[in-house]
Amino acid sequence: MAKDVIIACDFPSKNETLEFLKQFKDRKPFVKIGMELFYAEGPTIVHEIKALGHQIFLDLKLHDIPNTVKSAFRVLANLDVDLVNLHAAGGSEMMRQAIKGLTDENGKRPLLIAVTQLTSTDDKMLKNELLIPKSMEDTVAHYAKNAAENGLDGVVCSPLEAATIKNICGQNFITVTPGIRFADEQGKDDQKRIMTPAKAKDTGCDYLVVGRPITKAKDPVEQYYRCIRDFIDK
Ligand code: C5P
Repeated sequence: MAKDVIIACDFPSKNETLEFLKQFKDRKPFVKIGMELFYAEGPTIVHEIKALGHQIFLDLKLHDIPNTVKSAFRVLANLDVDLVNLHAAGGSEMMRQAIKGLTDENGKRPLLIAVTQLTSTDDKMLKNELLIPKSMEDTVAHYAKNAAENGLDGVVCSPLEAATIKNICGQNFITVTPGIRFADEQGKDDQKRIMTPAKAKDTGCDYLVVGRPITKAKDPVEQYYRCIRDFIDK
């Protein structure tokens, strides 16, 4: 599995995003386009970033009845992105229909991964708000297994859970992990289940998703390379 760092481009507009990406001269980062940017700019932002040569993770976290998800993914499949996702909580049938919607007449489709539990959710919230009595680890493992059994390629999870998921679902099952913070960083923002890029390297994470530690840094390019060094090169 190729390891890489995906930058979460959580910007409100196309101009800000393209200005940000312009700084990266030697290596085109894998880019995550999330709800904020996609809802602001629509499909054109995907076409423009793709045309610049970046790989794209379109992070829209679909979660609806199976037929609606299938139809939505049929539309998104036309955008030629590399990675898309949904919420595993939507259930098995929704996941199977999502694959149908995404797959073209030649059997080709982008990689599809499932969000297990958001990295902003902790055990207390799981128990008190979502009324899930199991531990975070068991819940995430169960959702991942369900995703694997229904043909998905991997999951979004916290780096704390990546090793367990690899053990349960196999080494080829992709783990994409947000909740990344450098050791010298103040605060976690809204993230609760976090890890440094260096530690994440040894846990079975395939792709790190890093937003604010890069986008809000004084020198985003240096922070990006720091992530690459810590996660891949060391
Ligand atoms: O700024 P930060 O590094 O916290 O950004 C993490 C990114 O990963 C955000 O774009 C967020 O939407 C996304 N994400 C997440 N937790 C998930 C799935 C996606 O934080 N479970």
